[in-house]
Amino acid sequence: MALFQRDLGIDLGTMFTRIIEGGQMILEEPTVVAVDIEELKMVAVGHEALNMMGRVSQDAIQVTRPLQSGVVAYYELTERLLEFQVKKISGPLGGFRPKNLTRIMITHPYGITSVERRAVHEAALQVGDAFMLPTPLAAAIGVDLPIGTPSGNMIVCMGGGCTQAAVMAMNDIVSGETLRQGGLQLDEAIASYVRKKYGLIIGQPTAEQIKLSIGAAVPQDEEKSLDLQGQDQVSGLPRAFTFTTGEVVEAVQPALEAVFETIRQVLEKTPPELASDIIDRGIALCGGAALLRGMDKLMTQKLGVPTYLVDNPITCMGEGAERGLEMLPILRRNVPQL
Ligand SMILES: Nc1ncnc2c1ncn2[C@@H]1O[C@H](COP(=O)(O)OP(=O)(O)OP(=O)(O)O)[C@@H](O)[C@H]1O
Ligand SMILES: [Mg+2]
Repeated sequence: MALFQRDLGIDLGTMFTRIIEGGQMILEEPTVVAVDIEELKMVAVGHEALNMMGRVSQDAIQVTRPLQSGVVAYYELTERLLEFQVKKISGPLGGFRPKNLTRIMITHPYGITSVERRAVHEAALQVGDAFMLPTPLAAAIGVDLPIGTPSGNMIVCMGGGCTQAAVMAMNDIVSGETLRQGGLQLDEAIASYVRKKYGLIIGQPTAEQIKLSIGAAVPQDEEKSLDLQGQDQVSGLPRAFTFTTGEVVEAVQPALEAVFETIRQVLEKTPPELASDIIDRGIALCGGAALLRGMDKLMTQKLGVPTYLVDNPITCMGEGAERGLEMLPILRRNVPQL
């Protein structure tokens, strides 16, 4: 590596932007931007912008997630967000570092269109010499799966906005699928369950809070409950209700079934030799939504293939992206968009 050169792995997710340098996560901020509509000026990014969500007048300040379902929905905002975050980690003198001395490997969902891929690339080029890696490949590198060998390895990344499943061998993705649904859709499932069963409206943040504090994918020995307030669908007035772990399990099943169906499709497309490797080795599970209690257990039951949660489910994508920069000559052969 040249003197002063800097290598960054960037995992640009629907919910979080994570930057890894030297194997360490040096930035983790929500992928959220707040814009002053009148002055067309970015007023806040990351945690600060997320705190404004639902609390400021939408006529004056628009709070937006520039990525939706894992892909860039608002190109300019994504570009500004990356610029802001990279400047932030560079410190006061960082702005003087020439862009071509920063090498970036940025993740993107597997199987997106070339237009969608170009949007990520163009945004990343604003902050450095940018390369791209499909998320499952980055994650597999980040968890040290032996993807350089001819044997099959499978990883499932369950993020906030999308779920990706891929089988890899010889540093390449042999079969894969991206479902444009993730943890956010589990929140929606909980909110719609509450609306149907109790006639109460709750927002996504409350639904997520339920999922994080008492949620599970399979019934638990210890049933937890949470006392909450919702807005009555008819009267519009606040009303209290209690929600339990068992109800979360029931609410999220249909959304999880879509995830399993996607994984089944990938397994069906996988050559039999590789599929038998996967049955032996198991499926590696990563991403924030994979942290739902019992997710690995439910997947093992539903797919009949042993599934395990990796040690670094949140950071493996960014870690693998950074390491991917060292592997460019190998990856270039098999990842045509690099
Ligand atoms: N302990 C937990 N239990 C259940 N869900 C969790 C837990 N921790 C985080 N999540 C969920 O994980 C999701 C965020 O995951 P992650 O940070 O991997 O997403 P992302 O990388 O930003 O999105 P994507 O990769 O889909 O673009 C959110 O929906 C969040 O609610
Ligand atoms: Mg992600």
